Amino acid sequence: MTDHAPVAYTGPQRVLSGVQPSGALHLGNYLGALVKFARLQHGQPTFIFVADMHAITVWQEPAKLAAQTREIAAAYLAAGLDPAKAAIFPQSAVPEHAELAWIFNCVARLGWLDRMTQFKEKSGKHKERSSVGLYTYPVLQAADILVYKATHVPVGEDQKQHLELTRDIAAKFNHDYDAPGFFPLPDPLVQGPGARVMSLRDGSAKMSKSDESDYSRINLTDDSDTIAQKIRKARTDPAPLPETLEELATRPEADNLVGIFAALSERTKLDVLTEYAGQGFGTFKPVLADLVVATMGPVTAKMRDYMNDPGEIDSILATGAARARQVARPVVDEVRKLVGFWGA
Ligand code: ADP
Ligand code: TRP
Repeated sequence: MTDHAPVAYTGPQRVLSGVQPSGALHLGNYLGALVKFARLQHGQPTFIFVADMHAITVWQEPAKLAAQTREIAAAYLAAGLDPAKAAIFPQSAVPEHAELAWIFNCVARLGWLDRMTQFKEKSGKHKERSSVGLYTYPVLQAADILVYKATHVPVGEDQKQHLELTRDIAAKFNHDYDAPGFFPLPDPLVQGPGARVMSLRDGSAKMSKSDESDYSRINLTDDSDTIAQKIRKARTDPAPLPETLEELATRPEADNLVGIFAALSERTKLDVLTEYAGQGFGTFKPVLADLVVATMGPVTAKMRDYMNDPGEIDSILATGAARARQVARPVVDEVRKLVGFWGA
């Protein structure tokens, strides 16, 4: 080990992200993740995978896992990801993720993982009964990102801590193996009003697949009537919409609905307030419901079409995995050399 001032990474910019195939997708996943993936694919080389290895950190029915993986791929395609631009693939089809993850298990420190709030939330009261994989989950996430030397990672706000850990692992690897600038320190891309969509029942909890109330979220598989009904029943306060963002920030449920409106219409929250300030939710909710139905309807229809053609999805996933490996393999080979493995 030698001491080096951090040297900046100067390689190519790459975008990478993934979603777990562990339950139905909702509007939060769509706005916080999928829409951003589709937007970013036009700039830099983009790698978007289905995180099936992360999914099995909690039990997944073997008979269903491949179908769930295809479903996430169908959602990616329906949200506008283009397999000619982005490599779309299952994580487990690129074994370099797991290979690098082991090496990172030996770089990351227990103390760093002990701070991860998602593990605390997901392991609940019975930490000792959780899988070891659930604990080292963020280390695999760091490998997912760095095996492509990805520089930009579009995610929802809840993933920021895992990105900080990824940067810590990259910096420690570069330092310990005397390889300044070898791995980039990737940036999370969390901007925009869709970065944290909240539950429709509780403005202080994020919209999540694991919420027991189905009325808390809009699923990508909901039909128009269900969507409209969920928005009508969304919790709100009795006051009309305010004029300023400061006032809006004190009213979490109102803030959330305005945020969803802004994200779906690609406007700012202030812009939405300028149009609807002074109006009550009796007026605003139906307009919002129409907007959600009009935007999500075509996406869910496309998703169903893809789901009816698993052969097409499988061929896209296989091609994506081959493209991804072409980038990942040489990086792992370089890592093997740096670590000093036999034959590298
Ligand atoms: P969930 O929390 O519902 O289990 P995941 O953890 O599978 O969802 O998240 C997949 C992607 O969607 C991640 O990038 C995550 O940050 C994003 N995401 C999840 N929930 C939300 C939300 N409520 N608002 C915005 N983005 C979200
Ligand atoms: N942990 C992410 C989530 O729960 C999924 C994920 C796995 C991911 N590996 C990743 C996201 C790498 C971005 C980059 O949503």
